[in-house]
Amino acid sequence: MRRTHHCNELRGEHIGQTVTLNGWVHLRRDLGGLIFIDIRDREGITQAVFDPSDLTSETFEAASSLRSESVISVTGKVRRRPGNNPTDRIPTGEIEVAVEKLEILNLADVLPFQVNEADPEHKVNEELRLQYRYLDLRRPKLLNNLRLRSKIAIETRRYMDEEGFLEIETPTLFKSTPEGAREFIIPCRNNPGFFYALPQSPQQFKQILMVSGVEKYFQLARCYRDEDLRADRQPEFTQLDIEMSFIEREDIYKLIEGLLKRIWKTARGIELQTPFPRIQFQEVMNRWGIDKPDTRFGIELIDLNEEFKESAFKVFRNTIADGGFVKAINAKGLANATQGQMKELEEVAINCGAKGLAHIKAEAGKWKSPIAKFFSDSEKEALTRKLQIEEGDLILFAADKDWLKTCEILGRLRLCCAELLKAQNKLTLPEDQFNFLWVVDFPLLSYDPEMERWYSSHHPFTAPVAEDIPLLRTAPKQVRGQHYDIVVNGVELGGGSIRIHQPEVQKIVFEEVLKLSPEVVKSRFGYMLEAFHYGAPPHGGIALGFDRMAAMLCGALSIRDVIAFPKTMKGTCLMTQSPGLVEERQLRDLHIKVELKKETSSALFNSTDSTEKP
Ligand code: AMO
Ligand code: AMP
Repeated sequence: MRRTHHCNELRGEHIGQTVTLNGWVHLRRDLGGLIFIDIRDREGITQAVFDPSDLTSETFEAASSLRSESVISVTGKVRRRPGNNPTDRIPTGEIEVAVEKLEILNLADVLPFQVNEADPEHKVNEELRLQYRYLDLRRPKLLNNLRLRSKIAIETRRYMDEEGFLEIETPTLFKSTPEGAREFIIPCRNNPGFFYALPQSPQQFKQILMVSGVEKYFQLARCYRDEDLRADRQPEFTQLDIEMSFIEREDIYKLIEGLLKRIWKTARGIELQTPFPRIQFQEVMNRWGIDKPDTRFGIELIDLNEEFKESAFKVFRNTIADGGFVKAINAKGLANATQGQMKELEEVAINCGAKGLAHIKAEAGKWKSPIAKFFSDSEKEALTRKLQIEEGDLILFAADKDWLKTCEILGRLRLCCAELLKAQNKLTLPEDQFNFLWVVDFPLLSYDPEMERWYSSHHPFTAPVAEDIPLLRTAPKQVRGQHYDIVVNGVELGGGSIRIHQPEVQKIVFEEVLKLSPEVVKSRFGYMLEAFHYGAPPHGGIALGFDRMAAMLCGALSIRDVIAFPKTMKGTCLMTQSPGLVEERQLRDLHIKVELKKETSSALFNSTDSTEKP
């Protein structure tokens, strides 16, 4: 029985027509001799009525024993549905189908959980839902996420094509380049002892494509990173990966702003205002204490060095005298934070490396604070003015020798305070507000005090700002990279850079700054340096986290909700039970010996806590 309509289509105008619907038994109700079945397909739900006076007793019996999620095909006449406001429950509520014929295509067993549950996310644990992912995906909410994801992928391809880009696939069997995140390595049977690695991103291939003269490349690229997983991180994920030749940073900003404008409009009907603000890393850290600020709310960091440089409170005075920093935030309306909450805030600060957490609560016309007694009247006056302190406010301070640390401590506290304010309904963030911004002028290098060496803040191919190149050898800390991140509502959506295209500069970065030996450089990147000797155009690019973008547009809290078959926090797939063990024979072929006991490995699927609440 071939369907004539989808389950979202029938309305008053179809009354009297004979139709056939195919789908799943969403809900069955037996009422006073009549059976009502909501049939669900990909597009929607329609009510079918089984009336014993219109049907053979066999058909009626069959209908009355149908379990949820069985697959059926029904044929019958569309008729008006009796009752008030029938459209309330479902969009097809005006009508129902009086069934004349029923075909059972597949009988479902008793389900591990109900698919038609109003709120299974709270009632059914995520492990069970991931184990039966195909059932979970039947829920309209998840199915709609996949639909939206498909839509933005198609719109992305359309836009990139209009902009003159070629979609090119790059290998996913690559080699190990242990510079960035940890990699998944793949043994190679034909060359025992040799390994491929899955690419963390197509970075090197896309740069080589520029040397090849492709000029404009893009790919919806699968990337693999063996890193600690979180709500917004999966071991395999998708990037919209882009590279262009003969461009400057502004060209990338324009391209991406145009793309995001198009996608937000298509997916959500939202008009984004472009250009997005471009804010230097230095300023972003100074104001929000994080390199991916959520600018939908204030609680900005305030610098207090001037105010406290002669303070009687030694911690602040000495920190400033040592060349350090004193900053504070005002969490408006949070003076009612409980002792427990204050303790938690302090722990957050200490985990970020703070030595303590000084605070002021403006309550009952007074300042309640362990440190306010040290402040002079003029310091109090300056604090009140700069932080705009009013009754009910909570002020949190950070003082440290290290500028970045001072900012980061308050940046973390700012986010915690926002959560507390949300819980008290003192802060609400509208669902359709998207605050995009570009973070620019990152430091090219960061210092690892343990290893006593510099490493690339992003990756070693990022070009220094031209005028800073001479500082590479003398003052690496001051070198700015031509790197940019696109940030929205506190999420790093993507990042990229203008690349080094001169082999001499690349060699200085590898050998003199990153201290890689010439042998290592040759074996890992030799082909790239060589390619740059044969006519490499200036080039640059970016990669957007496609899963993160889809999650943002779907309003999903985790990227798991926009990936058809995601992995758990332990990197496992509970449905297929991967990763799995392999046979001895396979290992022998690969000349690989596993030292772990079999039981250790098979325990993987017997424990819980593999997902995390975002
Ligand atoms: P980067 O490492 O910043 O840059 O990655 C770009 C974007 O990819 C997304 N992303 C992830 N999404 C889900 N799960 C993960 N584990 C994960 N890791 C990263 C983020 C991030 O902003 N080759 C460079 C880009 C370039 O320079 O052109 C790169 O991969 O949204
Ligand atoms: P102390 O004088 O060390 O007892 O500190 C007084 C208050 O200042 C306590 O609430 C400490 O938690 C806090 N405090 C101490 N050091 C710092 C710092 N570096 N930054 C912010 N608060 C601090």
